[in-house]
Amino acid sequence: MTAETNALMDAAADANAGEPAIPTDLPLRNDLIGEEPYGAPQLDVPVCLNVNENPYAPKADVVESIAQRIREAARSVNRYPDREHEALRQAFCDYLKAESDARLQPAQVWGANGSNEIMLQLFMAFGGPGRTALAPAPTYSMYPEYARDTFTAWQTVPRNDDFTVNVVDTIQAMHELQPAMVVLTSPNNPTGTPLPIEDLKQILEASQSATVAGAQPGTHPIVVVDEAYIEFRDPGTPSATTLVNDYHNLAVSRTMSKAFAFAGSRVGYVAADKGIIDCMRIVRMPYHLSAITQAAALAAFDHTDEQLAEVNHLRQTREQTAQWLTTQTYKGKALQVMPSQSNFILFGGHLAERELIFEQMLERGVLIRVVGPEGWLRVCMGTDEEMAQFRAALTASLRAAEQMTGYTA
Ligand SMILES: Cc1ncc(COP(=O)(O)O)c(C=O)c1O
Repeated sequence: MTAETNALMDAAADANAGEPAIPTDLPLRNDLIGEEPYGAPQLDVPVCLNVNENPYAPKADVVESIAQRIREAARSVNRYPDREHEALRQAFCDYLKAESDARLQPAQVWGANGSNEIMLQLFMAFGGPGRTALAPAPTYSMYPEYARDTFTAWQTVPRNDDFTVNVVDTIQAMHELQPAMVVLTSPNNPTGTPLPIEDLKQILEASQSATVAGAQPGTHPIVVVDEAYIEFRDPGTPSATTLVNDYHNLAVSRTMSKAFAFAGSRVGYVAADKGIIDCMRIVRMPYHLSAITQAAALAAFDHTDEQLAEVNHLRQTREQTAQWLTTQTYKGKALQVMPSQSNFILFGGHLAERELIFEQMLERGVLIRVVGPEGWLRVCMGTDEEMAQFRAALTASLRAAEQMTGYTA
């Protein structure tokens, strides 16, 4: 490794280790001792393809609208914001109608600071001591952290070999473990795998007769579908939000951070029966969504088409990149590529030295992610120029890693 890569890796390690060390005389919760803050490394490298953002920055007119709305909101920042964020909830409904043909009322949607906060509120309201959350794994690595933070037991059920949800096993686990929450991610992170709506319906139907350990008799689990990446699905594929009116125990989490190209503003939301949202309102912080955030999100929704303008192109980039990846080899064997309905791709499968390949990529200025089962790496879709750099860096990194591990063809 060069000195420069060493420094980058050190920076990444420091960020993960939460330096400086926590003083031992602080009464940190016992179960948190030795834990580290979650987060992908934030490194100053030319090509960042590691956190599944939309790489296209807002256009000048969108920036102007956001600035204008924030200027207006700033005139009354001496007052607390609208706690119920009513204008924004109407905007979520309008968006979900246009994007997914979901017909919802403002009482059926609820916003927060990123879908991270939505999920945490769900765990706070429905998890807790004596309660269990269940998810098909591998999946998004933040879920066990929400569980830890809310004293909820975290249980997983293995996905099939192709990372699709094993519906039969999931339903069986739901009956055996009696979770309060079943968390399904569609498309799944880090695999990109969608959950077909028919599979979701089967799980929802089964949940109607499932019971919940640690809860009042007669209660059933809630089914949470995390649709953070749903806008990248094939056009015409139904979203779980279209089932919200049919299942009062369904909560569908969405975000403006991914396709909507608004990650920096931190806005996520949930579509669910009013009953679920009323439960979340019990645990939310008062005034959790700042007036500035609400103003910025409303301005962005005024430019929905522009914000989503590159989604189709990113889908094409994904298909082209997936195809290209299948032509690449490591140690004489073709890379596997998981079919993705998202803006990222899990690839490899047999990359025993994935850390080394990751470091080699970093040395070439391209940051990807070591995540998911052993042997796999994840890359998210960037601009055309970024993807050209990714391809060049990956080919070179695979050859370098082969050489460094003594592989000869
Ligand atoms: C599956 C999934 N859900 C939720 C999130 C969180 O998104 P945000 O809090 O930015 O809305 C992410 C972010 O990477 C994700 O991958």
